[in-house]
Amino acid sequence: MNWLIHDYREDDLASVVHLIDTTADLGQESVFSLAECISALTSRQPAVVAVHRGEPIGTALAHVSGGRAWVMRIAIAPAWRGRGLASALLMELERRLVEARVHRIAYVLAEEEMLGEGLRKAGYTRRPAVAYFEKTEPATGTTANLLEELGGRLLSGGLWDRVAGMESEKNLIERRIVLPLAEPERAARHDVIPPRAITLFGPPGTGKTTFARAIASRLGWPFVELLPSRLADEGNLAAALRSAFARISELERVLVFIDEVEEIAPVRSAGTDSAMYGVTNELLKLIPGFRERDERLLVCATNSIRSLDPAFLRPGRFDYLIPIGTPDATARAAIWSRYSAGRNTVDLDALVEASELFTPADIEHAARIASQAAFERDSADAGAHTGDYLSALRQCRPTVTPAAIAEFNADITTHARL
Ligand SMILES: Nc1ncnc2c1ncn2[C@@H]1O[C@H](COP(=O)(O)OP(=O)(O)O)[C@@H](O)[C@H]1O
Ligand SMILES: [Mg+2]
Repeated sequence: MNWLIHDYREDDLASVVHLIDTTADLGQESVFSLAECISALTSRQPAVVAVHRGEPIGTALAHVSGGRAWVMRIAIAPAWRGRGLASALLMELERRLVEARVHRIAYVLAEEEMLGEGLRKAGYTRRPAVAYFEKTEPATGTTANLLEELGGRLLSGGLWDRVAGMESEKNLIERRIVLPLAEPERAARHDVIPPRAITLFGPPGTGKTTFARAIASRLGWPFVELLPSRLADEGNLAAALRSAFARISELERVLVFIDEVEEIAPVRSAGTDSAMYGVTNELLKLIPGFRERDERLLVCATNSIRSLDPAFLRPGRFDYLIPIGTPDATARAAIWSRYSAGRNTVDLDALVEASELFTPADIEHAARIASQAAFERDSADAGAHTGDYLSALRQCRPTVTPAAIAEFNADITTHARL
């Protein structure tokens, strides 16, 4: 989806009016008039605009009154209809409404043929009847405070599309995780039980955190990261975990992320200290309760799945254990193209070949060194050249060694659950 969605700005007015105006007779009419829309826009009511190559292709606007917002209009340029843009715009708009402390969002849609002759005879003018859609937003008052207390927040939309390459991982996560959670009714029709907990494993820097955040962004759910180091500050880590999960259970929907989970659920052995034993036990007890409710997902990440307590990883607790490896050549090409801003002067094949075993994090690092070199040279043609990238790559070493890859492949065989 190659569009960008930004907040409405004053200089968007003409194109937004054009969009509203030209789409009104395409079944996109609204109970709000163009004049009302313009007045909302000029009084800085929430609105977003989607742009493709500099051209506005869609817009969504609302007005807020009290704790309720009315979606006034979603207008999509004809060529862009049916491509998911309307829901993308609505999601972005809702995000701004939630930030404005709105807790009820109303959207009145036009509908056909519902009124009889009687009214017309009585002097009524026939207007399309309405279907009234309403959505309750949780992030208000205590819920907003709760989310803040937990250090959680709504991430911006579009993080999913910003994960470059990694097509096979993206595909798998989309089919197994995102779609069943996003479309629970469709999942239920096919007897698919949406996942409640997953673990992502793989070498450092391969994009596990990035995927966790992208899933939350894609679902439009708040993202709460539990940091054991911060929880431990409260004294007893097991008790802190229990109270964090209790607060989380009050949230309507949420993605909970625990990074480096091997630190709180290590293989238990005679040598494990008893405090850590208690923490692991606590987490084991908390997961079933967490799994009971809809609209939540626990994502754990680890660089070392073999150090995790096997009881922790049981199928009843985690639905999927998904490996996230170093990017293959196609994925590296996508990542390089992302970091070189798609400049066609950059020889992607050369970079792909020179970055075997490099993780996305390594590539990002090398790209930054190359950009810095280009900046310091400050020549007329902007951006780093192939030569800058290759010389940056020579200065960096991939984080992941062949031995680590061999271990990771062995872990896939013994642990992956797809
Ligand atoms: N597919 C990707 N495309 C572009 N950048 C990526 C991708 N995956 C990861 N990155 C970048 O690499 C860095 C490390 O990713 P991260 O998700 O933190 O890895 P991990 O959690 O596996 O250690 C981040 O700065 C992230 O933005
Ligand atoms: Mg990480």
